[in-house]
Amino acid sequence: MPRNRVEIMHGVNLDQLGRRNPEHYGGLTFDQLEQRIAEMGRELGLTTRFFQTNHEGRFVEHLHDLEGLADGIVLNPGAWTHYSWAIHDALEIAALPAVEVHLSDVANREPWRRVSVISDLCIATVSGQGVDGYRVALERLREELSR
Ligand code: DQA
Repeated sequence: MPRNRVEIMHGVNLDQLGRRNPEHYGGLTFDQLEQRIAEMGRELGLTTRFFQTNHEGRFVEHLHDLEGLADGIVLNPGAWTHYSWAIHDALEIAALPAVEVHLSDVANREPWRRVSVISDLCIATVSGQGVDGYRVALERLREELSR
């Protein structure tokens, strides 16, 4: 059976895209971002499913519930990336190949954004490439899932 089911998980404040600083996050609304990612997934032969929440516990529980439903994860947890050890542990429990994505160039912003508590569990991290970063992430995940 092909492994092609990718869960796209967005965390806190990502639903507010379109209202956030376009210099960092671009001009797309969140709906437009999700549509673009779905198109990219189709082009790559991947099935994408989407989840967004502003509640850390829901994000954690969604990771708990992925067993049997997804083959890989693309996640952008927003600010939780930088401090949520709860999400780190839930990602470890999910035990699926995961790619971390950030729209903005987190390495070249405030120092606190340079820390990621999930990157050790991810096969790759993509940041600073805007929406195109999701294509890079999907391609990397597809390569991993085809092994
Ligand atoms: C973000 C970067 C985070 O530092 C920030 O808190 C976000 C979005 C990004 O996509 O660039 O909310 O993850």
